[in-house]
Amino acid sequence: MTEDSEKRSILVSSALPYANAPLHLGHILEHIQTDIWVRYQRLIGNDVVYVCADDAHGTPIMLKADELNMTPEELIAEMYESHTSVFKKFNISHDNYHSTHSEENELLSQKIFLALQDKGLIEKKEIDQLYDTSKEMFLSDRYVKGICPSCGADDQYGDNCEKCSATYNAIELKNPVSVLSNTAPIVRKSEHLFFKLSLLKDEISSWLDTSFVQSSVRNKLNEWLNDDLKDWDISRDSPYFGFKIPGYEDKYFYVWLDAPIGYLASHLNHLKKNKRENLFHEFWDPQSNAEIYHFIGKDIMYFHALFFPVMLSNAEFKTPNGVFVHGFLTLNGEKMSKSRGNFISAESYLDALPSDYLRYYFASKLGTGVDDIDLSVEDFKQKNNSDLVNKYINLASRSANFIGKYFDGRLAKNLDSQELVEEFKEKSSEIYDLYEKMELSKAMKEIMLLADKANQYFDAKKPWVQIKDEANLQEVHSVCTTTLNLFKIISVLISPVLPEFTKSVFTFMQLNDPVWSDIQIDIVDKDINQFESIISRIDDNHINTMLES
Ligand code: 2FM
Ligand code: ZN
Repeated sequence: MTEDSEKRSILVSSALPYANAPLHLGHILEHIQTDIWVRYQRLIGNDVVYVCADDAHGTPIMLKADELNMTPEELIAEMYESHTSVFKKFNISHDNYHSTHSEENELLSQKIFLALQDKGLIEKKEIDQLYDTSKEMFLSDRYVKGICPSCGADDQYGDNCEKCSATYNAIELKNPVSVLSNTAPIVRKSEHLFFKLSLLKDEISSWLDTSFVQSSVRNKLNEWLNDDLKDWDISRDSPYFGFKIPGYEDKYFYVWLDAPIGYLASHLNHLKKNKRENLFHEFWDPQSNAEIYHFIGKDIMYFHALFFPVMLSNAEFKTPNGVFVHGFLTLNGEKMSKSRGNFISAESYLDALPSDYLRYYFASKLGTGVDDIDLSVEDFKQKNNSDLVNKYINLASRSANFIGKYFDGRLAKNLDSQELVEEFKEKSSEIYDLYEKMELSKAMKEIMLLADKANQYFDAKKPWVQIKDEANLQEVHSVCTTTLNLFKIISVLISPVLPEFTKSVFTFMQLNDPVWSDIQIDIVDKDINQFESIISRIDDNHINTMLES
């Protein structure tokens, strides 16, 4: 992970959004975080494939489609369009966006299941479950409510109590009621398949020892590993929207079995589209040098760090090199909630503003912790206006106006302060390390300190006073050229965060899309375009549009 190491081959994923609802800003937070890292890796020259997909299976999707009088296939096709179009508008640079309801995923899920079965890691057990006789289906924990067996609180779900935090089995609830039909369910026996996680504790621990996870996440995982691990129920009974389990009548893979396999399926689909399918096995070979990183929210650590690595290793696939976990998104200090009116949809944000403002705001808040990230709309407005407008783009407008007006749009042959430009180049290695470690807020802070420094340099030189005396013309020319060189370095550094704004910036400077090494190349004696406003101030109207719609 140094600036001169060899080109790495990296597969990166964001968690797969469920195909039963439009995207919300929580999804966007995660995808922006991932996308910034992906763009940084591409900028420094690594080979990155960024995959994602819609998570298309499970009971909620089946029921939602039913409610809308659609087939699940119709619903997931509609959601696919909606999700991909929103991600595009946020400039999320997926190399492939697939669906878990796909041929590749079915084959890979079967293959992995059969390998685990061959290894004796799948066990059949008969279990008691609540069954809704009017809907003719077994009820998963979230579809049943009743009285907590531990504290007696009313209206609690079938897995845990919100009042006393007790966890229990749904059949232990007192007076259970089906959320779907409002009738009392009965207890019925059913045979289920379990993945024998309890046998794999040591294997999980050794995966954890050799993988990248943030320290707070490692602590939590070790806590789980210090307890007994329960075998994991990977089957569901009909009716269910998912893949049938090979060799069993009317049994389906639980959605969380095939969802993470969707990362592999999306990768395979990407390779197929590029006629490079043959690279798939090489990439996923346990001995391969490729690297795999998953970006996820803290609620799904259990699946990614306990089940998934050992599912892969026991089916002879390469395991992830790291899992990167973030906290939840809150809005103005509170949980986002549609019903409480504290909500901004991804679409309504886009009605108000370009994505780069939100990308910058999230970057300025994201670090390696798993604390929740708050989107405070007032702070969002202030931060963008003060950093992106007053500090960053102002540098270009101030200096480029002189270049346009007095020097025919051409940069000087010499810099006024090579020393300052060299200082900025040196500072870039620090920012490189911060990006690599996903310390985005620290990276943004350092970048803005550079912008402050460049503005101070420009202010101290007072070109607007100097220009009044013709004898100073050359100096003003080289001062503005120096400022634009500092601005160019900052622009390369911030380009993973602001893809849209910096695209216009590089066009204005008549430069190609950047690579990291461009930081080292001074721009002198060349034409630039006339500066036009690239980033404008956010005002209350923007904020109101964002909140109203
Ligand atoms: O929690 C969720 O929204 C899941 N759809 C994430 C799945 S990620 C991966 F494992 F598929
Ligand atoms: Zn309770």
